[in-house]
Amino acid sequence: MRLALNDRLFVLTGAGISAESGLATFRGSGGLWNGYRVEDVATPEAWRTDPELVWRFYSMRRRDALAAQPNAGHIAIAEIEQKLADRFYLCTQNVDDLHERAGSQRIHHMHGTLFQSRCVHCNATFPDKALYEAAVKLPKCPKCGALVRPHIVWFGEVPLDMEDIYRELDRTTILLVVGTSGSVYPAAGFVQVANQRGIRTIYVGPEEPLNADAFDEIILGSATEVLPTLTGPDR
Ligand code: OAD
Ligand code: ZN
Repeated sequence: MRLALNDRLFVLTGAGISAESGLATFRGSGGLWNGYRVEDVATPEAWRTDPELVWRFYSMRRRDALAAQPNAGHIAIAEIEQKLADRFYLCTQNVDDLHERAGSQRIHHMHGTLFQSRCVHCNATFPDKALYEAAVKLPKCPKCGALVRPHIVWFGEVPLDMEDIYRELDRTTILLVVGTSGSVYPAAGFVQVANQRGIRTIYVGPEEPLNADAFDEIILGSATEVLPTLTGPDR
């Protein structure tokens, strides 16, 4: 990926970048959405109907993420950031913290973060690594005592940082998309926005995403195979 001195790189990642760290993707075989129905664990309605089930689901995901380690794909992205500094922007759909643990700093979690919780009443958010599984008391807000939910964007809710994300897409020159099936909007639409602005678009993943036609270049391979090859200055 040849980068000129005035190039700005916008990286979008999905569940695929954490797959080789042992975290399930959503729609692949053995994916999260095979074991659980979205409607039961990832919607505001699910939360109103059965907050314990929702907390069991996200506690399972917290446990898995705590046991996982960043892989060569996460590390390569952190290295590219170091080289490009403020000419770099990372937007992830992932809620795990593997990018941060690999050293990424300029990161935006558009679907929220696993290790934060939020009060349903006063909206206070706070760091939280606790597991709320079978029959334990659900968490209460330290400020107002109301029920606390995972700080995750559920279906039907508005993703975070969207203004900042579109502002950055506006001024980027290269869009690199890694490990996402292109089935969930607005993230799946970033490539179309990039095309309208004549931005170069590259996809990295072992199979073509649903929006493959929109990309200038598709590099088929896993994140740990391909991303380290993109960090060299002359590539
Ligand atoms: P998906 O599970 O839909 O897609 C994962 C993608 O990763 C697939 O396209 C795979 O080809 C690719 N992949 C698998 N292994 C890989 C590897 N080793 N290296 C690189 N790529 C690999 O997950 P997402 O597209 O991230 O949202 O899902 C998007 C959103 O849907 C999630 O953020 C979540 C989910 O429902 C919400 O919950 C709001
Ligand atoms: Zn509160």
